[in-house]
Order: sequence, then C-alpha cells, then structure tokens
Amino acid sequence: MTQVNDFSTLPIDLHFDALPAHVAVIMDGNGRWATQRGLPRVAGHRQGAKTVKDLLRCCKDWGIGALTVYAFSTENWRRPMEEVGFLLRLFDRLLRREMVEMQREGVQIRFLGDLSPLPDRLQDLMQEAMAATRHNQRVQFNVAVNYGGRQELVAATRHIAQQVSCGALSLDQIDEETLSRALLTHPLPDPDLLIRTSGEQRLSNFLPWQLAYTELYFTDLLWPEFDRAAFYQALRWYQGRQRRFGGLVAAPIAQGL
Ligand code: IPE
Ligand code: IPE
Ligand code: MG
Repeated sequence: MTQVNDFSTLPIDLHFDALPAHVAVIMDGNGRWATQRGLPRVAGHRQGAKTVKDLLRCCKDWGIGALTVYAFSTENWRRPMEEVGFLLRLFDRLLRREMVEMQREGVQIRFLGDLSPLPDRLQDLMQEAMAATRHNQRVQFNVAVNYGGRQELVAATRHIAQQVSCGALSLDQIDEETLSRALLTHPLPDPDLLIRTSGEQRLSNFLPWQLAYTELYFTDLLWPEFDRAAFYQALRWYQGRQRRFGGLVAAPIAQGL
C-alpha cells in the first residue's frame, strides 16, 4: 500500500542539504479569498494567520532555519481604518496566544519595520516577545510590520552617513557589507527563495536589497490556501533551479546558514 504523505516530516523527494536556509514570503490574497466566499475581507486575514502559523511549524519540522513574512507594509496604512485596526488587533491577539508555543518550539521572533506608529501596547508586546525568544535557535521568524524596503534603505543610508560624519567610518570603507549590516535583516543571510501568492508578480517594496539574487516563486493560490502541499511544490521548484550568480556554472543549492 502506498503511504499518503501527510507532510509532517520532510517529504523524501526533497533534499535536506538543498533546502533554502532562508525563505521570504509575501502573503497576498487574503481579501480576495474572503470576498470569493461572500465573507468580509477581515475573515481572510484571520484565515491567513492560521496559514502562517502552519508554515512556521512546517519550517521547523522540515529543518528550514529562517522565515521572513510580510505582514503589513508601509503602504498598507492606505486601507480603510477598520481593516487596519483589525489587523493591528489580530497581531496583538496572535502574539499573546502564540507566545508560549513559540517558546516551546524554539522560535526566535523578530519584527522588522518602524514599530513606532503602532499602538503602545502592541509595541510593548512585540519588544517583550523579541526579548523573551532571543536565545531560541530552532527557527528564526521575522515578521515585517510597517516595513518598507525603500524606507529601510533610507534609514541605512542615514546611519552610514552619520558614522562618516562623526569620523567612525571613511568613505572608502563603505562596501556591500557595510550596507547589509545596516539593514533590519542583519545578521541573517539573504533569502534563497521568495514566495508570493495570489498571482501578483511584484515585490511591493519588500526587501529590495536582500532579494537581489533570490529565486522568485509566484503562485496563483491565495494566501489562506497556501498549505504544506503548496510549500512542498515551491520547494520542489526551488530545488530544480540552477543558481549561477552571474557565472556559468550552477552553484550547489546548499544550506548557507
Ligand atoms: C495580504 O492580503 C495581507 C495584507 C496585506 C495584510 P490582502 O489583504 O492584500 O488581500 P488581497 O490582495 O486584497 O486579496
Ligand atoms: C503586499 O501586499 C504587502 C503584504 C503582503 C503585507 P499588498 O496587497 O499590500 O500589495 P499590492 O498593493 O498588491 O502591491
Ligand atoms: Mg493584496
């Protein structure tokens, strides 16, 4: 009898040594998922939260060390106040509810973005969660909230300019490493794989520097539909890619962490 894969462990046709060390995800399509079902858009966000929770667990189960998800962009403030308010309350509720489990599962959580416009209570919760999990090693979970890639680059440029102006750094010392170090994702390696759901094929201001050489995977599935089987498909696709980094010979797709 053939065994049905329940995806609880790494499927045998995925090579552990060739898994991406860092996966980035633009979780898109929550609103459309809900609208298709005659539900309010926020029902899609609620369902999407379940999807991300399982993807994080899947990364842990399969041995992928870092997951970075785009949860709220600097442009998402343009949405109706009720939707923004719902999302902020959802982050608050999820953080409270999931902290114990994240600790138990060895998740280190970090929030990437300018947290200062968020409600004080949510900021405190986020800081507490980052502090409480900072020594966890199993999976690094980055949640981009009020994140914008261009804003990140502006902030990094200011930081470097300040170092130059106070004499701590000279102009000719500035290289790619200097910039990478000034970004919010430091010290993580750049993502090996980016997944965007819902059929859109754009970056929407997500990690423009870090994705320079990342493999880009687009799927028509809406975010709440993106289950382990879909992640498996994305990883199969990834393992079939040849990463040449400008050369002629394919670099081995190996764990870089
Ligand atoms: C992504 O889903 C979640 C966030 C941006 C918070 P959307 O809310 O963008 O869903 P669509 O794209 O409108 O379907
Ligand atoms: C990108 O999705 C932001 C997040 C997933 C958080 P959007 O739905 O906001 O992107 P656009 O507006 O389609 O570019
Ligand atoms: Mg969208």
